[in-house]
Amino acid sequence: MNTRDHAARMLGWRLKQAGLPTPELDARLLMRGVTGASEIEMIREPGAFITAAEEAVLASFEARRLAGEPVARILGRREFWGLEFAVTPAVLDPRPDSETLVAAALDLLRGIEAPRILDLGTGSGCLLLAVLHERADARGLGVDISADALAVAQRNAVDLGLVPRAEFLQADWTAGVAGLFDLVISNPPYIASADIAALDRDVRDHDPRRALDGGADGLDAYRALALALPPVLKPGGHAVIELGIGQAAAVAALFEAAGFATTRTVADLAGVPRVLVAGLAPAKRRKG
Ligand SMILES: C[S@@+](CC[C@H](N)C(=O)[O-])C[C@H]1O[C@@H](n2cnc3c(N)ncnc32)[C@H](O)[C@@H]1O
Repeated sequence: MNTRDHAARMLGWRLKQAGLPTPELDARLLMRGVTGASEIEMIREPGAFITAAEEAVLASFEARRLAGEPVARILGRREFWGLEFAVTPAVLDPRPDSETLVAAALDLLRGIEAPRILDLGTGSGCLLLAVLHERADARGLGVDISADALAVAQRNAVDLGLVPRAEFLQADWTAGVAGLFDLVISNPPYIASADIAALDRDVRDHDPRRALDGGADGLDAYRALALALPPVLKPGGHAVIELGIGQAAAVAALFEAAGFATTRTVADLAGVPRVLVAGLAPAKRRKG
């Protein structure tokens, strides 16, 4: 019989030989997925054995990883903002960079009681559900054009115990969205169509095309959102929008042209401007 620790190390070594970028991390995550062990259990109990059945599952996971399937796709789940999200082929695999958007959204919500949040292109629901998890007084609506993606978001809302405060709607951006929101968040598709073929195969072959393709220059969704957002935001409300690398100036210009009074960017941990924060002017006070 093999120990968990030894099997994980050997798997990490084989993934490294195959040239995968994060072999040790992948190996530990796959081992945890097979055995159900937490990271703490993996550290505390290095001598724990794995069964023959677990070894067989691990071997099948290894073959899939070597064939280019991302770990989150193999396990069917991904950690984001410290929470577990189910992922299926219908949704984008949530990216750590998008946690910058969650942090920016939470900053803006400080001081707003019982805020209403709209998440456009919700996918797995990771952005909206992370915000609702942090703000127990908030409610939100997640919109996606894909019914299959919405089924995943709904399941994640159930698993995280956020159902009463999270609702979902199948729509083309804001079409059919009723009411006004304090904050709109969105991570739209922003890859230029011609660049998709050159993406890493983890992304190109496994994330849904609709989650990636931003049209000829990558800006189609931003154009639509800039025009669609002012009518669904309260006066003084904000939009918090994820940006692709190098898109900040062009997207800020689109939002300013659509009537947003202020724009600024927030950088991710690598220093890349990753999020645009665009604010509507507050309501004018009536004189007298
Ligand atoms: C980049 S993914 C973001 C998913 C998730 N919010 C995240 O950050 O991981 C973009 C999402 O927008 C959705 N989408 C694309 N076009 C849309 C449209 N016209 N209306 C609504 N959703 C759309 C896609 O189905 C996809 O789920």
